[in-house]
Amino acid sequence: MRQENCKVVSNRQIADNIFELVLSGELSAAMSQPGQFVHVKVGEGFDPLLRRPISIASIYDGTFTIIYRRQGRGTSMLAEKTPGMSVDVLGPLGNGFPAGEAKPGQTAILVGGGVGVPPMYELAKQLARNGVKVISIIGFQTARAVFYEKELSDFGDVYVATVDGTYGRKGYVTDILDGLEADIVFACGPTPMLRAVENGNYAAKTYLSLEERMGCGIGACFACVCHTKDDPKGFTYKKVCSDGPVFQAGEVVI
Ligand SMILES: Cc1cc2nc3c(=O)[nH]c(=O)nc-3n(C[C@H](O)[C@H](O)[C@H](O)COP(=O)(O)OP(=O)(O)OC[C@H]3O[C@@H](n4cnc5c(N)ncnc54)[C@H](O)[C@@H]3O)c2cc1C
Ligand code: FES
Repeated sequence: MRQENCKVVSNRQIADNIFELVLSGELSAAMSQPGQFVHVKVGEGFDPLLRRPISIASIYDGTFTIIYRRQGRGTSMLAEKTPGMSVDVLGPLGNGFPAGEAKPGQTAILVGGGVGVPPMYELAKQLARNGVKVISIIGFQTARAVFYEKELSDFGDVYVATVDGTYGRKGYVTDILDGLEADIVFACGPTPMLRAVENGNYAAKTYLSLEERMGCGIGACFACVCHTKDDPKGFTYKKVCSDGPVFQAGEVVI
């Protein structure tokens, strides 16, 4: 992990309120595991005080890409960044997806919901390179919010679901998952989606990336703790920022 003022290469809107920010910096050399995240300082001074956690979507030749939804104050400030400006980034942080658990020749299904789609891009890239058959299922609220369908199709079949049915299949990602078979499932998205994927027992192994609210991002403040499944109301917990954000299904209470 290191902290660096990374340079903005580009920052463009790719869907309704969704931005793709490409940053360059030596930090990218330390990035390898899909599903890790960076902690981004969106302002110049101490306001806002807290950094914003955003998944690493792609790592390429001295640059890395993050994709974020313009949501509140922090991500709105991020959307104002233009090429040449610098952004203070801490990372890479956390334990990402164990891509090596999917063996060559096996089938992996990648399930992304909304801003849970970005980490699936780097994961799909690495799995395909290792000879794993990749199927991506991505879900959004509506057609205007859809992104990275074409990009993910470079690595295998892509299925899209929208809640209102304005694009792809009407409904949820799990409606599509119900009809497919896989050796391993990787998922990132809203908590109800993760719960449904976990409860569906779609494969022998399932890994889920949690997006808990965070403070420090490095395991020091306890803002992000969640209980373990074997001790759901007790004192055993995991920190999403440093033990996760990726956990095996059944490991923590989601
Ligand atoms: C490991 C991880 C990876 C993430 N990856 C992405 C990503 O790739 N793309 C993306 O768009 N979003 C991602 N998020 C969610 C993103 O961090 C929040 O959307 C963002 O912090 C909101 O900041 P804001 O100032 O715009 O919103 P505000 O609501 O104004 O934020 C206020 C505070 O709440 C926190 N917060 C608000 N929503 C969330 C949330 N869903 N999760 C965690 N903290 C939150 C912020 O950090 C901040 O401290 C990720 C979160 C985590 C924990
Ligand atoms: S965010 Fe501080 S311990 Fe996880």
